[in-house]
Amino acid sequence: MEKRFRILRKSHGIRSLVAETDLKVTDFIVPLFIVEGNQVVEEINSLPGYYRRSLDKTLDEINELKNLGLIAVILFVKCPDNLKDNKGKEALNEDGLMQRSIRKIKELHPQITLFSDIALDPYSSFGHDGIVRDKEVVNDETNIILSKMALSHARAGVDFVAPSDMMDGRIQCIRQALELNSFHNVGILSYSAKYASCFYGPFRDALDSSPGFGDKKSYQMDIRNKKEALKEINKDIEEGADIILIKPAMAYLDVINEVARYCTLPICAYQVSGEYAMIKAAADKQWINEKEAMLESLIAIKRAGAGIIISYFSKDIAKHLNNL
Ligand code: PBG
Repeated sequence: MEKRFRILRKSHGIRSLVAETDLKVTDFIVPLFIVEGNQVVEEINSLPGYYRRSLDKTLDEINELKNLGLIAVILFVKCPDNLKDNKGKEALNEDGLMQRSIRKIKELHPQITLFSDIALDPYSSFGHDGIVRDKEVVNDETNIILSKMALSHARAGVDFVAPSDMMDGRIQCIRQALELNSFHNVGILSYSAKYASCFYGPFRDALDSSPGFGDKKSYQMDIRNKKEALKEINKDIEEGADIILIKPAMAYLDVINEVARYCTLPICAYQVSGEYAMIKAAADKQWINEKEAMLESLIAIKRAGAGIIISYFSKDIAKHLNNL
């Protein structure tokens, strides 16, 4: 016997000593869903254990996150139906729910790193990420609105805007708008490789943002392609992205891994709503162990090469890492 690999697996202590991958509480960005109102905490049907909260309750939640050592959140807002239109006008309202939330969170929790989603779908009467003309999502006109939206979040005090729309050239438009308005320190986390995935279902349920017609395949990426992801990522880097995001995570670990080999920017992966929901549902039926499935899925994402993870499990993993 020349080599006994089992020596390094003999005890918990040895396994920990030689482990190649570790999760830290500070690897995580917590997604938060905000709704209008006061004292509202609603569980999301297809995301068991996950909630939509009014801003007051969101502030309480951020206190809890901070106590667990979590340091970053990404905000999504649910826009009331009567404020939705084709151009996503409400997205630019300086006193809209997103803008008010950013201001208040920054005022009360200035140390929290704040990310905001940039896309029109929660505000769009068509549920699409951009402006619709003749059943088509128009690119360049959408970019103008997205840049204005990013500026409005920057004025409210966000640290990073996170465009999740997949229009061509939007990173450049947003970067230019930020520069011209002297927001030199506002970053861009770009959803560079966002696939047209079925795993976003529960998220659309959470925000009531499903497309009213068709699907998102003319702007989100074809699930069959990897080279396309590399082209998108390279272009976003050129255009001025600060952090690159790949989404979903578990079904696209090959993409994360390939990008991690050469990309010198931080890489973020989004463990999306459907990934969380699958684990929750199977655990509920006692077909898998929830905690172990959570750990295994998150470690796999980190091992593939993502240093930052957006996950609905952030709070649970933080409790686990804090031995709570
Ligand atoms: C909106 C957006 C979506 C997600 C993040 N931002 C949904 C979509 O593109 O339809 C999905 C996140 C998740 O499923 O957890 N542009």
